[in-house]
Amino acid sequence: MNARILQSDYMHWAKNQRPVRYHLASSEVPHFALERLELTLADLDLTGASAYRYPPLRQAIAAKEGVPPEWVVAADGTSMANMLAMAALVAPGDEVLVEQPTYEPMLAVLGFLGARITRFERRAPAFELDPEEVARAVTPATKLIVITNLHNPSGAYADEKMLRSIAELGPRILVDEVYRDAAFEEAPRSAVRLSDRFVATNSLTKVYGLSGIRCGWILAEPALAERMWRLNELFGVAQVHAGERLGCIALAHLDEVGAGTAERLARNRALANAFFARRSDVECAPMVHGITAFPRLLPGDPETLDELLRARFDTSIVPGRWFEMPDHFRIGVGGPPEIVEEGLARLGKALDECA
Ligand SMILES: Cc1ncc(COP(=O)(O)O)c(C=O)c1O
Repeated sequence: MNARILQSDYMHWAKNQRPVRYHLASSEVPHFALERLELTLADLDLTGASAYRYPPLRQAIAAKEGVPPEWVVAADGTSMANMLAMAALVAPGDEVLVEQPTYEPMLAVLGFLGARITRFERRAPAFELDPEEVARAVTPATKLIVITNLHNPSGAYADEKMLRSIAELGPRILVDEVYRDAAFEEAPRSAVRLSDRFVATNSLTKVYGLSGIRCGWILAEPALAERMWRLNELFGVAQVHAGERLGCIALAHLDEVGAGTAERLARNRALANAFFARRSDVECAPMVHGITAFPRLLPGDPETLDELLRARFDTSIVPGRWFEMPDHFRIGVGGPPEIVEEGLARLGKALDECA
């Protein structure tokens, strides 16, 4: 069994970096401004928390995701959604098969739960989800498979065919879908719509710029969803009611909240792809979907590159060691185009200096 883990080192690192102007380390779109929701105080009523499992929010999430309300569990962001989902599905010593590379807090939660973690590889540079690779790593003891779709760090998209093949392998699959809505061209459905072997987690954080309201959820077949609601009572009696209200309002105005994001991401991906094409010192599959890319630095050390960027160029990236691939680094292109463009220009200058 892995040592019990009581923290996410990546989260701690990410939260404690000095802010920079050209924040290519970010994996979100810009924060949505509260005043754009045209709220009144009555919209944020504090009473109503006793309305157990606040039905309006459950229904709003169900409507967005195209599932019955009984499939929906509310959670504080995708982070708590992942914790609840894994804690409901995994007992100490259980074998859990996780993609590599992956988002570090997934591994930390599994470590905390005492899972026995095994891995399957998503291969650079495209990091595609290969069902055969997953099949080779599944054993009769595998209790759960864990993936992200879109993939963090690379932004790779797993289509329904790939997902269906994995559903046939037997174990349940947790799919973190927090970047899913950034695949505008595909507009993918939640994996839970394909098979009840899937459990999906999501929130309004990454693609809608609403990380502050912590509106997250789990989608799972009703018996499992019920277990997760009950489990959540160990962590808190109820959700923050004003937060539930804000979640409902945001979901009712999701088109407005997301207005312009598809165009901005398409433009920023094109900027990033042009940048990768110009550079011979960086290897990266072209960005097609999503907010992040995970290039390999051919000569040099991404840690040193990040230190130089932060110290001299007011710019940041995420060194690949946080994704167990120290010769790679992650960039995010969710920001305003002028910030992304200048951030890439500065990344280019820092790369030139490192050469
Ligand atoms: C794959 C993945 N899941 C979950 C989260 C956290 O989401 P939330 O802010 O909704 O808790 C992140 C944030 O980086 C992420 O990349």
